[in-house]
Amino acid sequence: MSTVSDETHGRYSWLRQVRIIQGGMGVAISGWRLARAVASHRACMGVVSGTALDSVVARRLQDGDTGGHLRRAIEAFPDQGVAGRVLDRFFVPMGKKVGTPYRRVGMQTHVERPLVRDLTVLAAFVEVVLAREGHRGRVGINLLTKVKAPTLPTLYGAMLAGVDCILMGAGIPREIPGVLDAFAEGRGASLRLLDGPITDELAPLLRFDPEGVGYGAAQLPRPAFLPIVSADSLAAMLLRRSTGSVEGFIVEGPLAGGHNAPPRGRTVLDETGQPVYGERDQADTARMAELGLPFWLAGATGSPESLTAAREAGATGIQVGTLFAFSRESGMDPELRVKILRDAREGGSEVRTDPRASSTGYPFKVVQVEGSVAVPEVYEARPRVCDNGYLREPVSTGGGSITYRCAAEPVAAYVAKGGSEEDAAGRRCLCNGLLATCGHPQVQKDGTVEPPIVTSGDDLGRLVGLLPAGRDDYGADDVIRYLTGAAAAL
Ligand SMILES: Cc1cc2nc3c(=O)[nH]c(=O)nc-3n(C[C@H](O)[C@H](O)[C@H](O)COP(=O)(O)O)c2cc1C
Repeated sequence: MSTVSDETHGRYSWLRQVRIIQGGMGVAISGWRLARAVASHRACMGVVSGTALDSVVARRLQDGDTGGHLRRAIEAFPDQGVAGRVLDRFFVPMGKKVGTPYRRVGMQTHVERPLVRDLTVLAAFVEVVLAREGHRGRVGINLLTKVKAPTLPTLYGAMLAGVDCILMGAGIPREIPGVLDAFAEGRGASLRLLDGPITDELAPLLRFDPEGVGYGAAQLPRPAFLPIVSADSLAAMLLRRSTGSVEGFIVEGPLAGGHNAPPRGRTVLDETGQPVYGERDQADTARMAELGLPFWLAGATGSPESLTAAREAGATGIQVGTLFAFSRESGMDPELRVKILRDAREGGSEVRTDPRASSTGYPFKVVQVEGSVAVPEVYEARPRVCDNGYLREPVSTGGGSITYRCAAEPVAAYVAKGGSEEDAAGRRCLCNGLLATCGHPQVQKDGTVEPPIVTSGDDLGRLVGLLPAGRDDYGADDVIRYLTGAAAAL
């Protein structure tokens, strides 16, 4: 069926040895510390999140780069002119004063701004360099297909650092394999800015050209590409229609943390307002196996029994997120992490699949934790601000002009750009919320400290059952020992 050769028996044969993939978790939940800890285990791949890395690295630098890890990795960047400009702009020795705002990176669009482009490349480079230190295991990076503007520089920075694998879901990443081929051969690459049929021939493209920057490389290793899919039909389509080779798939079910695919067919909500999933939302593993490429099952598959079942169903292994998201090496703010574990043990910390929380329109799993925007009063009290803009949707206004809008931005601004009030209702600002969850909340002009939003898979309840009584601290090592059957609990 496919014109794509299966190189997983050749160049990418290592993929077939990987039993456990640690899920890419944004924003900065799966940072370099977690990915490094996982990747140092045999048959495991660590994955850093590539989402909003420009802001993450800019904010870590403004917090003083404790331990000097970022600056150590930045020293390895092939263009020290760029490194110097980024440090001049964002590094604050000893860290910014408590209660003061972070200097913003600026919202990314199709119009290239060299400093933001270079910061994005450098940020991905740094994250992957640090994740790869001290072991010979495999490291991947996860990007959301929907987040368009930073994609090319993020991929390029990760490739410059020798990333082994690119994982992309939340959309149909059909054009990415061709981009990886181009970058590997030192060529520039483009991505369409607008999804769907071409309605404006003049619509701009996103473009990144290695020859136009001082750190461009004539050749780079081409990482494996694993799209994240919810249905075998989407996997088959990607094999047929991608712009280059696909090396395998993550098959993610509706119990996974983060964004979920909507139910197939018309969305029906249960009495608690959550989408109802059924048989049709389970990918057919026999059909996946027929495609002939390795695949991993994700979504509440974090147990030794699920690993065995996945292998019996023809999968190479599992992808696990939630169990790692609450481990010591996670990038989640430690106070928040421990609070959620304690609440969950006492029967609180319910995880809801919220069909409205994310401006993307995809259902998003939200932990109902005090102090977060999951709580209606906290949500209502937060003035709407859009100052990061990763999830803004580009909309053509004709003749090559583009406007960017997000259903979580101030309602009047959204409506002025053609959005509807109805669509804006209940949307949470994931950019600010998730940046707060990883410990870098923005302080807004009116003094508002951005509240967090926490996502988790349905496995959170089972996770606390695996922790010995009174314990709320465990490591990625404990998760791997448990998953491989070497220990009965965490
Ligand atoms: C805290 C958290 C954040 C996540 N963020 C992302 C993300 O940014 N991109 C993505 O593709 N998947 C994301 N996921 C999904 C994971 O990569 C993984 O597929 C999923 O967690 C597996 O299911 P599990 O949570 O039941 O283990 C996230 C999951 C969690 C728990």
